Amino acid sequence: AFESISEIPPDPILNLSTLYKADDFEKKVDLGVGAYRDGEGKPWILPVVSKAENIVINRPGRNHEYLPVGGFKEFTTGAARIAFGEDSEVLNNGLVYSIQSISGTGSLSLGGMFLSRFYNSKNIFISKPTWVNHHDVFSAHGFEIGQYAYWDPIKKSLDFDGFVKSIREAPEGSVFVLHACAHNPTGVDPSKEQWAILADEIAKKKHFPFFDMAYQGYATGDLDNDAYAVRLFASRGFELLLAQSFAKNMGLYGERTGCLHILTNNKDATRRAGKQTEKCSRATVSTCPRYGAEIAGTILSSPELFDEWKQTLKQMSGRVLEMRHALRDRLVKLGTPGNWDHIVNQIGMFSFTGISYPNVQILVKKYHIYLADNGRISVAGLNHNNIDYVANSIHEVIST
Ligand code: LMR
Repeated sequence: AFESISEIPPDPILNLSTLYKADDFEKKVDLGVGAYRDGEGKPWILPVVSKAENIVINRPGRNHEYLPVGGFKEFTTGAARIAFGEDSEVLNNGLVYSIQSISGTGSLSLGGMFLSRFYNSKNIFISKPTWVNHHDVFSAHGFEIGQYAYWDPIKKSLDFDGFVKSIREAPEGSVFVLHACAHNPTGVDPSKEQWAILADEIAKKKHFPFFDMAYQGYATGDLDNDAYAVRLFASRGFELLLAQSFAKNMGLYGERTGCLHILTNNKDATRRAGKQTEKCSRATVSTCPRYGAEIAGTILSSPELFDEWKQTLKQMSGRVLEMRHALRDRLVKLGTPGNWDHIVNQIGMFSFTGISYPNVQILVKKYHIYLADNGRISVAGLNHNNIDYVANSIHEVIST
């Protein structure tokens, strides 16, 4: 039945982890997947997550029963609060329906399925460039994918005029997928002033915003700051979807812990949309895994653990920032051709280095430094033990 099936290339991000693990070179470096690493380059279980795990495991009457289709309430309620804010009007007015989902990708896909059934446009616009999976997730739900201008490769910064032009030129009522903060892969976000203009332009064309928030806490180290764009749009009266992941900010990658929030301007429409989305979820995953949601829900609902988590976010984002400076300073000191300030100006977990595709191939094959084909590095993969090796290798490759 499948003789004529076509070959596909390996996943451009996840395959880097496979190659890295199979490599036995002593100084190999993993700058591929967006996953936090500690100062020794190791995956890290947040201490606050360990504490919450203990509470969850020892909870009297604990069992492995199914969660409701909507998910673990303590988790979805807490998730909505950190996204929309403690005093959020839209939450207090019952305009948001929150459904647990399978981390970021599952939330995007669930939102895509809901929109494909109930929204009146099949045009969806994603940033150019964006996280590779956006293409596959939305085309799987029958969307016509367009790209909006985002990155200026010459200035290595946001192409704001291009972004506005794309919004104006898109067919009215298109879905716009917006990175809430810490844009993947560029590490460049609009400023507050720019978000206000983007909101005006999106409103004028009656586009529908679909926020992807995978890195809350990593852009500025502060959950409230990082939710700025989402809260701005919510306060402006937009109807929107928000896909929220706890993979990076709680380090719950493999536990697939996420939430989809549906905001409409009518309480009853919100409830009906939520129920329809639950039906989509039931048809695809039935009910979500409970372990990660119980951990996250425990952290979000305990003032003490929540405070500790916020401190840990500062620590993680602070270490990434320190590594940005370490890399930039070394490249400058070595006299590596080009300007490297963008490494410290970009935010979040990634730096879009501008290293060309052929040079990426040399770094991977000759130096065993694993980074994405588009020149994106996960700065969290850098540490004091490998920073000199990485800087020297980039220098050698670019200077020759
Ligand atoms: C990334 O961009 O590296 C992460 O979002 C992990 C993934 O699933 O691609």
